[in-house]
Amino acid sequence: MKRVLGTAVAAGVGVLAWSLVEAQSFTVRQISAPVLAPGSKPIRILHLSDLHLTPSQRRKVAWVRHLASFRPDLVVDTGDNLAHVDAVPTALEALEPLLAFPGVFVHGSNDYFAPTPRNPLKYLREPTQASAGATALDTAALTAGLTEGGWTDLNNVRASLEIAGTTVDFVGLDDPHIGRDRLPEPAAGAEAALRIGVVHAPYLRALGQLREDGAEVILAGHTHGGQVNVPFRGALVTNCDLDTARASGLHGWPGPRPDEQGGSESAWLHVSAGLGTNPYTPVRLACRPEATMLTLLPR
Ligand SMILES: [Fe+2]
Repeated sequence: MKRVLGTAVAAGVGVLAWSLVEAQSFTVRQISAPVLAPGSKPIRILHLSDLHLTPSQRRKVAWVRHLASFRPDLVVDTGDNLAHVDAVPTALEALEPLLAFPGVFVHGSNDYFAPTPRNPLKYLREPTQASAGATALDTAALTAGLTEGGWTDLNNVRASLEIAGTTVDFVGLDDPHIGRDRLPEPAAGAEAALRIGVVHAPYLRALGQLREDGAEVILAGHTHGGQVNVPFRGALVTNCDLDTARASGLHGWPGPRPDEQGGSESAWLHVSAGLGTNPYTPVRLACRPEATMLTLLPR
């Protein structure tokens, strides 16, 4: 009995040690989606999400800065950049080299409120909620730093940008996880060749609104890909009402992928597993922290 218990404790310590290491094992995932009009130039999107930065995370700051070497056509930041009351300068330092490229962003709940300690088992049972009395962050300073750097704020906003020779319409929502999502009024004028929807938390109501609005590609984050996954099985939770099969990666929504049978009514949905965690639960298992190079190709 003693030996069995000893083995179980050793295995638990080993898994915990590995999950602390894995949470620092940043990686770039490269994928593509055939969605552009035939003959279009590919659009290389760097999708970043859930940096959850604190001022002491120098290694993560340096790693995010090096992503500029990919020279993307567009950067999409789906929020939760902050995880500390003093992290706005840290986030702006990490993103500074990427501001040289066209970019769009939305906020997540963690860009509004400082993180508070949580019972990790509760996270596995139900979606998290902003704690009453949580410290408000300087979201306005983050927004100003990004927009003054040239990126477009898509929190409940529409925008059109010329990206790699294609005019792209964007429709963005503020974070549905804390009820801040309001679909912006329809735009006057002609529709662009492509519409991209952007939101932090991929709640079904938000995905439905973006799809109904005409988004052919939807980018989201928030799930951390499940964060603590079962090896070879995948995510146990998404921290919202999206199914765990779509906790991260490139899928169709609401049906199969548009290039699969029965997917003609679907949008492409990319959910980033993100680069960070709540600082009180700094572990990831079978779900490496990631940035994604998503290349949109001609159909
Ligand atoms: Fe997050």
